[in-house]
Amino acid sequence: MTESTKNATLSFDGKTFELPMFSPTAGPDVIDIRKLYAQADVFTYDPGFTSTASCDSTITFIDGAEGVLLHRGYPIDQLAEKSHFLEVCYLLLYGELPTAAKLEDFETRVTRHTMVHEQMHNFFRGFRRDAHPMATMVGVVGAMSAFYADSADVSDPWQREVASIRLIAKLPTIAAMAYKYSIGQPFVYPRNDLDYAANFLNMCFSVPAEKYEVNPILARAMDRIFTLHADHEQNASTSTVRLASSSGANPFACIAAGIACLWGPAHGGANQACLEMLREIGTVDRIPEFIARAKDKDDPFRLMGFGHRVYKNFDPRAKVMKQSADEVLDLLGVENNPTLQVAKELEKQALADPYFAEKKLFPNVDFYSGIILEAMGFPTSMFTPIFALSRTIGWVSQWREMIADPQMKIGRPRQLYLGETQRDYVNVEDR
Ligand code: CMC
Repeated sequence: MTESTKNATLSFDGKTFELPMFSPTAGPDVIDIRKLYAQADVFTYDPGFTSTASCDSTITFIDGAEGVLLHRGYPIDQLAEKSHFLEVCYLLLYGELPTAAKLEDFETRVTRHTMVHEQMHNFFRGFRRDAHPMATMVGVVGAMSAFYADSADVSDPWQREVASIRLIAKLPTIAAMAYKYSIGQPFVYPRNDLDYAANFLNMCFSVPAEKYEVNPILARAMDRIFTLHADHEQNASTSTVRLASSSGANPFACIAAGIACLWGPAHGGANQACLEMLREIGTVDRIPEFIARAKDKDDPFRLMGFGHRVYKNFDPRAKVMKQSADEVLDLLGVENNPTLQVAKELEKQALADPYFAEKKLFPNVDFYSGIILEAMGFPTSMFTPIFALSRTIGWVSQWREMIADPQMKIGRPRQLYLGETQRDYVNVEDR
């Protein structure tokens, strides 16, 4: 972070304060208000963090106006096309693309950690049999603190490294187990001869009763979905992980907090909500009715998979996802998939509508991902768990960056208090 030559000036009540500014390597300049309260006795007010940089980071950069997403400087479309998920994990964690030897070593380390403690199977069995896989994941990932206490001391860099590898390696196993449990099938152990995505598909779709061959093209599509969701700067779940970790809480508890936040329909839950919406629309002739509802101020309905806090242009991940949807459906021989038809026509009509154009609402990553996942055989309840397992690398990378920063402080926002001022207690008989 280099200090800019600029200062911002804040004036009120006849007093003037000079606020230093920082220049990032990309993106808008930042006004440093850290000493503002001490010097001026005022807070700033920004409830949805729309104008607040909550930290400095070197991991991911988004240019929302241009629709650009960079991981450690590399554009997401290049990574989705030329790289693969575990290489992207290495990049996010350690900052550079690995050499072949380093990648092999990293893949071996992750692969060696794919199994979960056998006793965790009992833990799963405590959930209701129809539990949503996200409910199970929040609980089981939090419970990793109990099973892997030997890597929960955040002050020890070696334990942080082990916890990182464990989380990246075990989340697919946990997500697949949550799925198997929800449909009453036996858990499938990981297979270390398969790559990361193929192993996940095998754990989800194979059964002991018959042979299951992972289709390599579907494994590649799965891997691309993981890559497209890997990290996304200081979004709600990542900020949740950072805030939870700022107290020194263990990484498993903090990632569980991130999963809980991701579940909401405004965030990771949008992929499930989007596919449900596309199904509800059903046929292209009903699209105008739903567009009208999305525009109606008195109707809480929103077009799911549309709009983004940061992107005011195409979400670059949505472009790759749309192309992937075509490829996967083509491969599976699904011609004229009605959901894909509705999605494409809805996108066309919404983009041509002045409401969406004026508010700069474009399809986001969740708009097409559900169509691919459904075609692969996943029920909608698995969409957000897949997002969670993909985003784990982002959460882990951001957590490590924060913990390693010597300037780290506990996150403690202030408030604009609008409640009663001090008053005296009134006895119940006098109220
Ligand atoms: N459909 C209809 N109107 C919308 C939509 C939408 N999907 N999204 C935003 N708007 C309108 C909104 O009503 C508001 O209008 P006005 O200015 O007249 O009050 C304006 O656009 C700005 O919306 P906002 O809610 O103030 O914007 P935000 O940055 O707080 O919200 C969002 C961003 C993603 C929560 C929102 O666009 C949304 O709810 N989208 C649908 C859910 C979704 O697809 N979420 C996935 C996001 S990408 C993946 C992820 O982050 O997990």
